[in-house]
Amino acid sequence: MGGLSKKAFQIQTITENSGQQRLLLDSGNLLFKREKIADGPNQERLTAEAIMTVYQKLAYDAVGVGPLDLSGGLDFIRKSSGKEFPWVSANIIDEKGQPIFKQWIRKKISSTEIVITALTARPRNPPEGIKIEKWQTILPELLTRMKAEKNDPFIIVLSSLNYEENRKITEKYPEIHLLISADQHKGNLSPQLINGCLITQTSKQGKYQGLLEINLGKKREWGADSAKLLADLQNRKGSLDWQLRRLQKKIRLTENKEKYKNTLTRISAEKEQLNEQITNLKQVIEKEQAEGIYQDKYKYRFIGLKKNLPNDTATADLLSKLNQEIRQLHKKSRTSPKTAKTTTIPHNNMVGFSLCATCHPVQTDFWKTTDHASAYATLVQNEKQLDLECLPCHLTLNMQRTRPGRMVDKRFLYFPEELQSVGCESCHGAGKQHSQSPEKFKLVRLPSKNICLACHTPDHDDNFEYENKLLKVSCPAG
Ligand code: HEC
Ligand code: HEC
Ligand code: HEC
Ligand code: HEC
Repeated sequence: MGGLSKKAFQIQTITENSGQQRLLLDSGNLLFKREKIADGPNQERLTAEAIMTVYQKLAYDAVGVGPLDLSGGLDFIRKSSGKEFPWVSANIIDEKGQPIFKQWIRKKISSTEIVITALTARPRNPPEGIKIEKWQTILPELLTRMKAEKNDPFIIVLSSLNYEENRKITEKYPEIHLLISADQHKGNLSPQLINGCLITQTSKQGKYQGLLEINLGKKREWGADSAKLLADLQNRKGSLDWQLRRLQKKIRLTENKEKYKNTLTRISAEKEQLNEQITNLKQVIEKEQAEGIYQDKYKYRFIGLKKNLPNDTATADLLSKLNQEIRQLHKKSRTSPKTAKTTTIPHNNMVGFSLCATCHPVQTDFWKTTDHASAYATLVQNEKQLDLECLPCHLTLNMQRTRPGRMVDKRFLYFPEELQSVGCESCHGAGKQHSQSPEKFKLVRLPSKNICLACHTPDHDDNFEYENKLLKVSCPAG
């Protein structure tokens, strides 16, 4: 979830920069991480709704229904996605044998007809009222119908079945041109040509985007990329030229010219052969261009989601709204808000940043711009704000006395909002007395390296350099 606004930014940038027509596809398992989600409004359902909104904003062309997209039940996915959401699944059917989702979606790119269908893997506990057909049962007739509707379409299958199953499908049905799989147990797989079908997948949970550039030809058949081949040949020729020049220089300088003769002959012969290949290939390319490209060509790239990408602002706004809703939900569900313990925190001389702000507005404004101020929000985005293992380093504890790596305390769950995130007192120490009489009770001005290291452990920050990082978090004077 945390990466969603970066992902949105990345997709938009790629689309804008390519200037090509594009299809945005996902093979599914985007809504939930677990198989069964509790009923009623809850954090997981709110998050799933937000994901659907973002996907819809990005104008995905087709999204396969994965088994984990069904964890919230059939009504959830059907109702909350609205009619427009481009879910596809050929093999989810109701009790009467009717398909529940669109079985395929048609697109046209320049003059090529494209049909996108999807196969859903069986969830361990399918929601009531649905049946998942096997691909063996559904595909023969489906492919015939898809082909009958449009002449010679380019067929894409999105599949959440496992990779071995997907291979079997491509082996059996050469009319499928591209199969994008979402095998939960595999990472990025560069495209492989099996029986005329290109099969590929990107690693799970949106950590990568797979970018497949396809040059559609007239014949529905994958061909070698002549331009790339030509570049390879020319590279090889360049390297031979260099070897030849070096050799000739050696021969000029040496007495024993015979010694190099064999090598010279071999390299010259290879170069001649290469020249011939290059001439032929150039003719092929010219012919292809004159007649219109006739085979389909592709290039691919997997693009990782980097931490330092900017966020797409619209998506980020949506996510922060989501976080507010989630917070409200948690507030409502807290059983007894009166338990005095709510505010009894492990080191109770802490006051929270608002009080500090009254006398130190400049430092507070600065602090708010640092990642420390949103450390709790980061957990919320990752749905980990209820995880006791995560909380200690993403809250304000008195670091003068604490080694959060080793702390697990139920009270962390009930921290006042003021002390969520890494606040002033994490670095400067508990400030109750100081706030009452600042001249009398001094705080630590410059937090020592050990204070940072309590949280910036090698497990969580593999390149912590104190001097360097200190510059980024040092509050300004004034
Ligand atoms: C209570 C735990 C804690 C303490 C103490 C702490 N940090 Fe952090 N720090 C974090 C967490 C958690 C994040 C990540 C926040 C996020 O992104 O949500 C972080 C992020 C940072 C970042 C931003 C990451 C980046 O490279 O842009 C810097 C810089 C940093 N800390 C430096 C320091 C320094 C220097 C100290 C000591 C003076 C320190 N921290 C003390 C927990 C802590
Ligand atoms: C021992 C302290 C500690 C614990 C425990 C801890 N974190 Fe962090 N976390 C940090 C620090 C320090 C950073 C900042 C790292 C940096 O600046 O590169 C951070 C950064 C992060 C980030 C943002 C940066 C990123 O890598 O994308 C996320 C997300 C995060 N933590 C999640 C978690 C989750 C989830 C848990 C529980 C499983 C957890 N943290 C437990 C110290 C901790
Ligand atoms: C990650 C640790 C960290 C956090 C969190 C943090 N500070 Fe600081 N603060 C520093 C460092 C480092 C300095 C610089 C000390 C120096 O250079 O002498 C500093 C300096 C200060 C100073 C002295 C400024 C001066 O006059 O030179 C004040 C006051 C201060 N911080 C207040 C705050 C307040 C208020 C907050 C919370 C809103 C806060 N700090 C949060 C690390 C932190
Ligand atoms: C009522 C006003 C007031 C409040 C509230 C207050 N401070 Fe201060 N703070 C001061 C004054 C005044 C100084 C300068 C003291 C001196 O130089 O003798 C100071 C100095 C500091 C310094 C520099 C080191 C020192 O003690 O001289 C830090 C760091 C600091 N404050 C942090 C905080 C933090 C963190 C909080 C909240 C927990 C906080 N202050 C709350 C008034 C306040």
